[in-house]
Amino acid sequence: MARVLLTGGTGYVGGDVLYRLFAHGASTYNITCLIRDHEKAKQLSKKYPDVRIVEGNLDDVQLVEKEAREADIVAHLAATSHLPSSEAIVKGLTQPERNRRGHWIQISGATLLAADEISDGKFGFATEKTYDDVKDVKDVHSIITNNPQRVVDNLVVAQEKINTALVVGPQIYGLGRGPSHTRSVQAPEVARATLKLGEGFRLGDGKNSWSNVHVNDLSDLIIALVDAAAARKTDDGLWGKEGIYFPENGNMTFGELSAKIADEAYRQGLIPKGSVDNVIDAKEANELSAHASILWGTNAVITSSRAKSLLNWEPSRPSLADEIPGIVAREGQAYPKI
Ligand SMILES: NC(=O)c1ccc[n+]([C@@H]2O[C@H](COP(=O)([O-])OP(=O)(O)OC[C@H]3O[C@@H](n4cnc5c(N)ncnc54)[C@H](OP(=O)(O)O)[C@@H]3O)[C@@H](O)[C@H]2O)c1
Repeated sequence: MARVLLTGGTGYVGGDVLYRLFAHGASTYNITCLIRDHEKAKQLSKKYPDVRIVEGNLDDVQLVEKEAREADIVAHLAATSHLPSSEAIVKGLTQPERNRRGHWIQISGATLLAADEISDGKFGFATEKTYDDVKDVKDVHSIITNNPQRVVDNLVVAQEKINTALVVGPQIYGLGRGPSHTRSVQAPEVARATLKLGEGFRLGDGKNSWSNVHVNDLSDLIIALVDAAAARKTDDGLWGKEGIYFPENGNMTFGELSAKIADEAYRQGLIPKGSVDNVIDAKEANELSAHASILWGTNAVITSSRAKSLLNWEPSRPSLADEIPGIVAREGQAYPKI
């Protein structure tokens, strides 16, 4: 039975993957979760008694290395940029006494594609550029290797002795099915800020766009990668330098997202009007929500081709537009007084 080490099992992405992994593979996989919080570890254990819990922090590098050494597949979903744990995973998966090739599935984020806009401080503008994870894989590889700040992405694509997959999350939406944290960031934060301000708002011209994917569809992709790893599939382009995945189910400008959220908040009686009359700048955005100028103000438009052709992955969950009423309603419950 293949051994899977999962980090981030109490998080939004990792929790949803754990739900799917358990539903799909409790009898197929031997699952270990690294959990840092004792209370959350107890809850998780109650919910998933067949999952082996190891209590520890990503900074406990000896522990991470030991657990990776014993795993066939590591799904590192806790963080995009935690270098010590990522290096420990590499060490563990490349121990000479291992008699099998290890697999490392790493979550990344689509801000990777917006580095120039971020350094130029340009927010709210449209760009023409879109990135296809098959057609443009060489360009994407260069974007990673030319950006030393993307330490974990660089570590992933440099591996020769491990089968790696870098899963670059665009805007992830939808309710997670994990045991603890089930909320995403970008759209829920626009909704929360709309309710807090009591009116619709937009960052700059709002012409910038991100692709998006439902968290349940993202989990299907990660499970497909786990299955491919367990089946020892080695199709061309599945792993390694080309094993970069851009899961998406469409894209939307942030101006449109702001407008839809304002309209829905008005429809639900949470704000007095549905129009977007308040245009904020990057500084105001960052005061409303952490890193919001980047997360609401840049472009990251991607096309998912690799997972569709190699893993038969197809997104099937509701679109971001369809999920907006639920996002607004949940934020309304969390922040009821406007
Ligand atoms: N959500 C998105 O739209 C999105 C899109 C692209 C990329 N990403 C990236 O993907 C990663 C995961 O995102 P998420 O939304 O799932 O985040 P999240 O809900 O905050 O979950 C993070 C998970 O990692 C665990 N964790 C964090 N630091 C740890 C440490 N030092 N030791 C042990 N466990 C640790 C957390 O444990 P606790 O429960 O103890 O806190 C939690 O289980 C993040 O780096 C995020 O930036 C997210």
